[in-house]
Amino acid sequence: MTQGNTVTGNTVTQGTSDYRDGGLVFPADFTFGSATASYQIEGAANEDGRGASIWDTFSHTPGTITNGDTGDVADDHYHRLEEDLDLMKSLNLQAYRFSIAWPRIQPTGRGPANQAGLDFYSRLIDGLIARGIRPVATLYHWDLPQALEDEGGWAVRSTAEAFGDYASIVGTAFGGRIHTWTTLNEPWCSAYLGYGSGAHAPGLTDPEKALKAVHHLNLAHGLAITALRKVVTNDPQYSVTLNLHVVLGEGTGAADAVRQIEALGNRAFTGPMLKGAYPADLLEDTKEITDWSFVQGGDLAVINQPLDVLGVNYYSTNLVRLWDGVSPRQNADGHKDAGGSPWPGASRVEFVQQPGPYTEMGWNIEPSGLEELLLALHTEFPNQPMMITENGAAFDDTVDDSGEHAAVHDLDRIDYLRRHLTAAHRAVAQGVDLRGYFVWSLMDNFEWGYGYTKRFGIVRVDYDTQVRLPKDSALWYAELASSNRLPD
Ligand code: FCB
Repeated sequence: MTQGNTVTGNTVTQGTSDYRDGGLVFPADFTFGSATASYQIEGAANEDGRGASIWDTFSHTPGTITNGDTGDVADDHYHRLEEDLDLMKSLNLQAYRFSIAWPRIQPTGRGPANQAGLDFYSRLIDGLIARGIRPVATLYHWDLPQALEDEGGWAVRSTAEAFGDYASIVGTAFGGRIHTWTTLNEPWCSAYLGYGSGAHAPGLTDPEKALKAVHHLNLAHGLAITALRKVVTNDPQYSVTLNLHVVLGEGTGAADAVRQIEALGNRAFTGPMLKGAYPADLLEDTKEITDWSFVQGGDLAVINQPLDVLGVNYYSTNLVRLWDGVSPRQNADGHKDAGGSPWPGASRVEFVQQPGPYTEMGWNIEPSGLEELLLALHTEFPNQPMMITENGAAFDDTVDDSGEHAAVHDLDRIDYLRRHLTAAHRAVAQGVDLRGYFVWSLMDNFEWGYGYTKRFGIVRVDYDTQVRLPKDSALWYAELASSNRLPD
């Protein structure tokens, strides 16, 4: 990259290589998998006792989602479970990261389990194990039971406590069969997009609630691990998945702009989870919004759980600078503008548009950011194993019907994956304890505020027929997963 002063606290590696390597061999025990999330693929929104989630309410609210799309049907995965399991097997996946829809298990977020909900995930887990695929279960990928939102959602403590009970139910039900438990997916999004910017469910724009949500999500993480440890019968890996931000700065005050965004975006989670404390500068930066008195004695000890593996999601980088207060303020942080700010207290920071190339999301493609992020985490938490729990790209795929079989020649996605896997490999070669990589996503799905307009899958889904068609990237990835070697 050519922007002036880049500030990341690490060696800036951009521009030194195009990251397009082939032939690299990953460690023998490195895991290649794929990831999905319940609301994005399952459909069957009103079946078998599933309660409403905040995403049902939000997506059915006019104006929130592109084209008015909803997850009502999505990929109809709920009814096509066996076919999808066979698909995973055909792609040589070694692990599958899925999420459990809390409102399928507890329709109102409290009370006894809904047996049909447990049965569905039990079939999924057994089907994975029968095919030699490791189950990696995320407890929360954003579909909060609506009934809990009606009581205040993540802005109130009782939601975190309910989450601990929910973890206990699923831990008891699936306890001996899950290889890796992930408590939360990207609590940054749940808190700041859900309660700050309004781009995600429940669509609120309240900076104080966003910060309360940060803490209650952190607490939920700690309570869930505590609950799971009591009930599971095997020796699983415990993890959380964070979307940690690679923040570059430019101009006068770059270091301060970077610091503020890293505090809100990264250290608000890694601080309590991995160090047992909120960063002092975060509390200072946000003191006009809240005094953080919702953090109660003992909370930090609950949150600070040893993690067997830290899940890292990575898509692109951010470039920030201090806003001059005069020019129109830029907010090119990669998220839909829904009125509020996802960065409470950082009103003097602006997000600058970065040079391309871009994916269909408008996100800049910068594989060096992944290498930097892994190295920075390794420096800060030297003994912490990690895995990449999401990485991938949306592109405007087209189906080629000219041959005997339909095909999607998604060379841009293969290129994206190759470059990011090269970055991951470089991190491994420099001593990072990276255990695996999960491509986002197994198949095209409901991409939140963008509905079905953004296709991230390595498998194409025809939403009219629900036919699955492995793209060229899926075949490429299958070769990688079976050989541990980045195809030439
Ligand atoms: C991540 C989400 C995932 C998907 C990708 C593109 O933030 O965890 O569900 O939407 O972005």
